[in-house]
Amino acid sequence: MPEPAGRASSAPLVGGSAEPTLRELSAPGRRAWSLPDLDVPERPLDLPELSAEPVPLPEVAERDLVAHFTRLAHRNFAVDLGAYPLGSCTMKYNPKVCDWAAEHPGFRDLHPQTPAEFSQGSLAVMLEAEEILCALTGMTRATFQPAAGAAGELTGLLLMRAYHEARGRHPTTVLIPDTAHGTNPASVTLSGYTVRHVASDDRGMVDLEQLRAATDDDVAGLMLTNPNTLGVFEHDIVEMARLIHDVDGLVYYDGANLNAILGVARPGDMGFDIVHSNLHKTFATPHGGGGPGAGPVAVVDRLVEFLPGPMPTRTDSGLAWVMPERSIGRVHGNHGNFLVVLRALTYMLALGGPGLRRVAERSVLNARYLAAMLGDDFRPGYPGPCMHEFVVSVAALKRRTGVRAMDVAKALLDRGFHAPTVYFPLVVEEALMIEPTETESPETMEALAAALNEIAAAAVTDPLVVQTAPHHTPVSRPDEALAARHPVLTWDMPAFDHRDAP
Ligand SMILES: Cc1ncc(COP(=O)(O)O)c(C=O)c1O
Repeated sequence: MPEPAGRASSAPLVGGSAEPTLRELSAPGRRAWSLPDLDVPERPLDLPELSAEPVPLPEVAERDLVAHFTRLAHRNFAVDLGAYPLGSCTMKYNPKVCDWAAEHPGFRDLHPQTPAEFSQGSLAVMLEAEEILCALTGMTRATFQPAAGAAGELTGLLLMRAYHEARGRHPTTVLIPDTAHGTNPASVTLSGYTVRHVASDDRGMVDLEQLRAATDDDVAGLMLTNPNTLGVFEHDIVEMARLIHDVDGLVYYDGANLNAILGVARPGDMGFDIVHSNLHKTFATPHGGGGPGAGPVAVVDRLVEFLPGPMPTRTDSGLAWVMPERSIGRVHGNHGNFLVVLRALTYMLALGGPGLRRVAERSVLNARYLAAMLGDDFRPGYPGPCMHEFVVSVAALKRRTGVRAMDVAKALLDRGFHAPTVYFPLVVEEALMIEPTETESPETMEALAAALNEIAAAAVTDPLVVQTAPHHTPVSRPDEALAARHPVLTWDMPAFDHRDAP
């Protein structure tokens, strides 16, 4: 029998929030699960680690639990609700057929440590996804262990180090253009290398002369985001790769933006040695964000022996887990987020080769269509046509009205769109970075352009309304820096006063 509903509707307000915590919904004896009666003899567990006392967890009936999380979900924006034109770390609509595949009990309920002889189908999923990814990137082999894009970057840099050390070399520096994604320099630092920045030129591309001047024997490699975070396809890639290879360095492709070139161009053909891709941006899976996603890393021949392992491999007796000869070891407790890989494979197979190419064509078309419909208050951050995303500056609007990029982004929330990325990349003043993605219709592009133009007009007639937006969301302007610096992660923390924080 399901437990009766709790006191959700009469729960008191906490910290100005209308949603009670699970602790407040808790009532002794309520459960969100039921187990069948024990039909084997009861035996105490002889584990010294076990607490003699029950852990004081909230006790909540299933009905209240579902209502609680559903109410919270309704207070949030989501890819299933509307367009999410967040530049760079884009979320796009994830087709439901991918979830259907991931819900198959044979995949869903499989323990990650099941021996290979009992999980041949899952190894085949990993191998097929790998082969398609390698075909699309022009690489030899790939690992799906990294749980997110940034984890893929760290893995790629560890591969870079292993490669140099195997050759008796110990360069210390990695080159990063100023139009790179922010995680690139962070990953370089985390991997123990030092960042050397390379400026971009007035095309929004890497300045080749600057790159030449920055390249010496101490360079372990170059990390290039392409298309870069201005949404521009770098013109001088072949020459850049030659410069880096000439000093024995490796060229790394931040392929989070692979959706812009899928089926049209391959990093392997351009001279890259290592490519990470973000399954969420290109192959429509939930975003990793450091967590339950996937940022696979694909490499050329000479780096295969260093890949994390074990890797699914064809042998005479079927598929087996094999550790590459000079592997850097594991970068994940198991084989990565398998159900995310399965979703990505479903997406790849559902679209097929021509469909994947259309992803690239439509992502670029949507971005260019949207950019063309924006008024003069949204000034392009650089000359030339964009790829899958573009950056505009509202610096002139700010000077005229006081309305900033952040205000424009917040005002968009009132109009049913997720906010674009703001103040990034740093090379554009008052930047709005917009990636509509290929999943949105022309009508959505037109509505989004109309909303942005309307906000710019409102900034002139009534700047205060824009500066205090959003007005129709459950929460208006939370202190985002405070949330990041002093996260309140436990249920009994509402009493916490951030002014006491260190
Ligand atoms: C160009 C680029 N590189 C790296 C990342 C980092 O990926 P993740 O957020 O999955 O760690 C992103 C974010 O999606 C990105 O857009």
